[in-house]
Amino acid sequence: MVSAGDLIQTVQAGTAYATFLTLVLVNSTALFNASSTAASVLGATNDLTRNVAVRSWSHDLAVTVGIGASAWDQLTGLPRPAELRTFEAIDAAQYAPSTPGDIFYHIRSGRADLAFEFERQLLDQFNGSVKVQDKVSGFRYFDARTLQGFVDGTANPVGGDIDPATRVNGTLDPNGAGGSYLLTQKYSVDLAKWNRLPTEQQEKVFGRSKPDNIELPDQPDDAQKPHKQLTTVIVNGTQHDIVRDNMPFGSPAEDEFGCFFIGYSAAVWVLQQMLDNMFIGVPPGKYDRLLDFTKAETGNYWFVPSLAVLNGLGGN
Ligand code: HEM
Ligand SMILES: *[C@@H]1O[C@H](CO)[C@@H](O)[C@H](O)[C@H]1NC(C)=O
Ligand SMILES: *[C@@H]1O[C@H](CO)[C@@H](O)[C@H](O)[C@H]1NC(C)=O
Ligand SMILES: *[C@@H]1O[C@H](CO)[C@@H](O)[C@H](O)[C@H]1NC(C)=O
Repeated sequence: MVSAGDLIQTVQAGTAYATFLTLVLVNSTALFNASSTAASVLGATNDLTRNVAVRSWSHDLAVTVGIGASAWDQLTGLPRPAELRTFEAIDAAQYAPSTPGDIFYHIRSGRADLAFEFERQLLDQFNGSVKVQDKVSGFRYFDARTLQGFVDGTANPVGGDIDPATRVNGTLDPNGAGGSYLLTQKYSVDLAKWNRLPTEQQEKVFGRSKPDNIELPDQPDDAQKPHKQLTTVIVNGTQHDIVRDNMPFGSPAEDEFGCFFIGYSAAVWVLQQMLDNMFIGVPPGKYDRLLDFTKAETGNYWFVPSLAVLNGLGGN
């Protein structure tokens, strides 16, 4: 549930539906400047969100917009946030590809019609200045479970812990002040293979019990570590959390099963450390066994500007 005052650029998890829309700019021509059209649409996103949300009594729509390193300069004309960069493929024990993307919309809603209507009006406004690179419609699955059957999102910071974990510190990174770094990866899930793995083994993969989500003890240094231990980043005694809002997606009729990973962070290095731990392994080679059943199909880093910066884009 998202409240009416928090419609845009908020970082919080937990709606029933989400649309993940990855867009790329088309080439401009003498008669049509694609990036200036797109920049105006970005700058008007807050108005568009309100326009759609007000038609639902619950106002249950929240939108965040991310901009890729490839398009930051032309879309914003602003100096770059310190850690803004293109996602680099990881080619190690497991493979994580890097895929195209200039603009990303994370559209969360309590009702499928709101997400649909927002997407429809948004693409109309873009007026051909972008093409859709990827679109995923996710849904909340039972007790916030992944398709693998495990409760997802438990270790997310809540309340007053969200901002320090996800908002860039303006003293350290003035160009990024008040914004957030974002990692997205679309994963396909080999559900048949996963379901052949006994529950006890599945629990070792995630590091939590399946029915009631209880944490299992951490593994010692040289042992195979579970997903939850590999993604716990502690440096100089401080744990660096991120906010995830993953959603399952798929279509059994088409034999399609997936998980869209989305993680907001105050720093890219935290996200990269988690990825390296998963795909390279700790120690190297002892990678995340989740990846034997779950394959990364896309990979992008984004910068989510503060609402004030977003509202100022496109000469708005
Ligand atoms: C499709 C792939 C993935 C699935 C199905 C998945 C699922 C899960 C589940 C079930 C948990 C345990 C419950 C919880 O705390 O939420 C978890 C924990 C976590 N995952 Fe993932 N995850 C995926 C990919 C990733 C990626 C790519 C990252 C980071 C780059 C990540 C970061 C984390 C973090 C930070 C935690 C919490 C660790 C802690 O206990 O502090 N996950 N994930
Ligand atoms: C939409 O794009 C076309 C060119 O493809 C242009 O002629 C038209 O003026 C644009 N409309 C708006 C509202 O920008
Ligand atoms: C931001 O970073 C500066 C310099 O490290 C630190 O003094 C300050 O406490 C930080 N601010 C917040 C809100 O974390
Ligand atoms: C951890 O401490 C070392 C040594 O003081 C320092 O160089 C490094 O920047 C610190 N890392 C973080 C993430 O604070």
